[in-house]
Parts: sequence; C-alpha cells; structure tokens
Amino acid sequence: MKKSKKQTKVLFVSSEVYPYAKSGGLADVSFGLPKAMLGAFDVSIIMPLYGSIDIKRFKIRHVEVFDIFLGAKKYKVELLSTTYESLKCYFVGSKIITDKKSLYGTPQSGYKDNDLRFGLFCKAVVAFAQSKNYDLLHLNDWQSALCALFIKEDATLKIQTLFTIHNLAYQGIFEKESLEKLGLKNEYFHMDALEFYGGISFMKAGIAYSDAVTTVSPNYAKEILTQEFGCGLEGFLSKHENKLTGILNGVDLFHFAPKTDTALLQNYDATSYDKKVENKKAYLQERNFENEQLPLFIFIGRFTWQKGVDLLIEALQELSQMKLNIAILGEGESKYHKQIKVQTAKAKNMDICFGYDEVLSHKMYASADFLLMPSLFEPCGLNQLISMSYGVIPLVSSVGGLKDSVHSLNDYDKSMACGNNLGYGFSFDKNEPNALIKTIQEALILYEDKKRFKEINMHNMSCDFSWDASAKVYTSLYKSLLEQIV
Ligand code: GLC
Repeated sequence: MKKSKKQTKVLFVSSEVYPYAKSGGLADVSFGLPKAMLGAFDVSIIMPLYGSIDIKRFKIRHVEVFDIFLGAKKYKVELLSTTYESLKCYFVGSKIITDKKSLYGTPQSGYKDNDLRFGLFCKAVVAFAQSKNYDLLHLNDWQSALCALFIKEDATLKIQTLFTIHNLAYQGIFEKESLEKLGLKNEYFHMDALEFYGGISFMKAGIAYSDAVTTVSPNYAKEILTQEFGCGLEGFLSKHENKLTGILNGVDLFHFAPKTDTALLQNYDATSYDKKVENKKAYLQERNFENEQLPLFIFIGRFTWQKGVDLLIEALQELSQMKLNIAILGEGESKYHKQIKVQTAKAKNMDICFGYDEVLSHKMYASADFLLMPSLFEPCGLNQLISMSYGVIPLVSSVGGLKDSVHSLNDYDKSMACGNNLGYGFSFDKNEPNALIKTIQEALILYEDKKRFKEINMHNMSCDFSWDASAKVYTSLYKSLLEQIV
C-alpha cells in the first residue's frame, strides 16, 4: 500500500455504522461520535463490508486490494470507501466477511467463523492504519478488539488505541483452537490475556492491550466491576480499572431533532410543544387505534432479555385492560415474537410492528407521551435521550446509563430545573415485583395533570443531549493518549 503524509489522524473502528449497517445503538454512536469529533481531528471510520450493504446507494468505490495473512492462510482483502454527511468511511471486504448477509449471525447464535471474519477485519484495519499513518484507533466492542493486540505485537507501530465497551454481555468468545487459526501465540491462552473459561475472549484483548478503555456511561463503568453486571469479567476489569472511564453517549441532532425531522407530519420544539399532538392524531389514525384520547406509551428496541422484554410481556395482559395505548416496534428472538403476538392478539389498545423501521420510529417518538425502557442492564441507552428530546417522558429501570440520564421526577421542581441540563422521568427498581405496572400507573396520574406534564416535557426538550459535551471529554482523552506517542 502507498504511504501518505503524516498528520494527526484518528480511525474509528466499528462493526456497525449508521446508515450502512445497523443492529443497535452502536451503529448510531459510530456515526454520531466521529462526526462530533471532526472539528478537532482528522477522523475517518472503518467497518466490515457485509453482503447486505447497498454499494450503489451509498456510492461505495473501490480503493485498493491487498493480502492479509492470518495463521497459515492468505486472504485477499478489498478496501473500499465513500463519504456520507462529510464523514469518510472505509470498508473492509473479503469473501468470508462479505458473503454473509447478516452482520453477526442469527439472534440465537453467531456465525461459526466469526473469529476469522473479525480477526481478518482487525488485521486488515491495522495494516491500513499503518500504511496511512494513523495516530489513534478508536475501537468499539469485541469485533474490533483484536486491533489492540495486533498493534501491541508490533513494537515498531506508534499507534495509540482506545477501546470502548458498548455492551459487555457480547464478548466474542471462541474455542481455544481459534488462536492458531488467527496466528496468535499460545501464550495468549492465559487468564491475564485472552483465556476465558477454557476458550478465548476477544473482549479481553481490547481491555488488556488498549491504552485506555471507556464505556458508554459513568454508572455502567462502575457496574461492570461488580458480579451482577460484570459478565464474568469483573475481576479482569478491576485489574485494568486505572485505565477505565465512563463517558455518556449523545444523540446526533441532525437526525433526531423534532424541529427539523423530515419524517414528521408536524415539526415542533420546546416552544411549540402543543403542535406535537398533530403527529399523535395522525399516527393513531394511521395505526387504527380505537381511542385517540388515551396517553400513548411506546417501546422501541431489540427483543432480547437485556431490554426487559420479559417484564414487558408479563405486563401486557394487565396493560390491555388499562386506559392507555401501547405501540411496540422491534425485532429479535423468535420466542419473544410469538409471546408478544399471543399477548396482544385480542387487545384493542396495542399495535405491534415487527422489524426495524427508522421512519416509523421517528413518527412514534413524535406521537408518544411515554417511553417504556425496562432494561435489565443498559450500558447507556439512546432511546431515553431521543424520547426526552421529542417530549416523551421515559419510564426506565434504574440501571447503567439510564440512571445517569433520567433523573427522578420526585426531584423535579420547576424553579430548580430551570436552566439545568438534566432530563427527568420515572425510574424503578427492576427487581421489585410489579414495578413496571406501578410506574405506568404513576405516569397515568401525571398525564392527568396536564400543566405539569407539559412543563416537564418542555423542560426535557430544552435540554442539550447532543454529542457536544461528551465530544469534549473524548477530545481530551484522545489528546492525552496522543501525547503518549514517543
Ligand atoms: C449498546 C448498548 C446500549 C448503548 C449502545 C451504544 O447497544 O446496549 O446501551 O447505548 O450500545 O453505545
């Protein structure tokens, strides 16, 4: 590959990036954060080229072809690129990555060769970063974690690495044999390195070999050091605690602002909150809800145990009898699809859409009064931030980033809240029986107090949940890492 001129360059490495490929919040962060950092650094993104990515639509063009050795095998890798909203994105294509449509596999299990797919991705990323003189790689989750190890293995490389954990529950665990397939020395099969209960963990490589580790909220950074949330890595993380910090995610206001959102029938902001109801009316009619006067609760997200889908399903029967409307949008494990269908089949106040629908989700935020987020754990969560920006009061379990970003309405006082940047909502203890139903009942009482309901929404909407504040923290972290390059 050709060598280019030296400048301060950051490469944001992620396995999913909006708008090219998305399975969850990681994709939104992988676009929003680098975009917010553009002013301070020369940032580009790099991701795998999955078979599902629309090359024509995004005008993705060939850059070069090179060979990568992984263990005893040689792989042909194609590098491609495009630019979207001023942000350059590179793609790593190779048969084992690109011949599969899904990103990682089915919701039930990952592809068998994900060790090779993401091992190859990481090795290609490092080769590219070296050839183009990148100074810092910002790695995200287990799929890009091996970059840190490949960089540490080559003492000639002067590249700093920052590893961000978006979700510790997904670690990239493979059999011991993967080491050889990836061309990694047997000495990594050690509890202080990659070994994890007889197999190997890519996540451990990111934690052990990166120069700094962050996670996506200050509270989750503390939680993952405990047995309840540490997913078996609490001890290992504690050893690396001195390089671990938590930085709360933001929202990309270019895509998520009710004032400019092109998916909405009626745009509005904190000063014109009353216009929001136009969206609600149209949406309820479009989705055939019987009673348009009732408050609308929404749930948007992946149907996995993490998101508290079991709690939601358990509550549906009772909710179908209550004076409210519920709209659910998402997809995931088939057992949840079945259970949700059964529970909602006869309900007149519920609407279920299976799938991912970006436009519909925007309409739902613009129409809803309350958001349900009963997560069992939540590294950060973006839906609660989006909802508050759209004048939707969140009902969240008190975990992870939800605890950092949704402040209790018991503490809300108009004069005190005035001018602060704290969003308010309901939070509950996920372990308390019936907590979700009880909190929904409290929300219904608040809904009756129209003045207070509007006041709180107007306050939340005037808060700044953009990337600005967090981008500043990342900027100083990048700078402190760059200063360590000798
Ligand atoms: C993962 C986490 C979520 C977080 C997102 C982006 O999807 O589960 O809490 O907001 O990553 O960091």
